[in-house]
Amino acid sequence: METLPTPLLTEAEIAARVTSLANEISRDYAGKGELLLVGVLKGAFIFLADLARRLTIPRQVDFVALSTYPDTTTDPGAVRLIMDLRSDIANRHVLVVEDILDTGRTLHYLLRTLAARQPASLKTCVLLHKPARREVAINPDYLGFEIPDRWVVGYGLDHADHHRTLPYLGVIDAETVG
Ligand code: IMP
Ligand code: MG
Repeated sequence: METLPTPLLTEAEIAARVTSLANEISRDYAGKGELLLVGVLKGAFIFLADLARRLTIPRQVDFVALSTYPDTTTDPGAVRLIMDLRSDIANRHVLVVEDILDTGRTLHYLLRTLAARQPASLKTCVLLHKPARREVAINPDYLGFEIPDRWVVGYGLDHADHHRTLPYLGVIDAETVG
């Protein structure tokens, strides 16, 4: 039996923050037409589902999946797109929804890729940020919480694909994280 992660943010704290992010985004995009939310799989699926349902503006949802090359490759940390959008984003307002900003490499790569397709606007909404580990200078346009440099699971986030469906955000022991 696996031990439960130590709570960092409760379900109620997450829900309250997601509601205020949704209100802020709804205000900022009001009157601009339809917003395309781009969720980054898999980690952002629960955050995106909650955020998308709380918005009051017209919106659509699409997904990308990204993967970081393992440390064993010649270019460790390099990011690649493993599943692209179905939608054409030219001239559309796009908001990337990501679970966590760690080194910043994933988001940096994705923004560069999407910007080349000439959307009307391109912004980011990130649930968690670990400022201690940042390597690439990126500031999310909308941010849920700043957190310490610990491995976080739950609410969509995993460790080796475990714990994603835990309803709260918790931390697991450093020894467990390989
Ligand atoms: P970055 O490219 O270093 O910013 O890494 C971002 C990606 O690493 C996120 O999209 C997550 O998939 C993953 N990640 C980083 N830190 C954590 C964590 O504490 N828990 C779960 N996933 C994490
Ligand atoms: Mg991710």
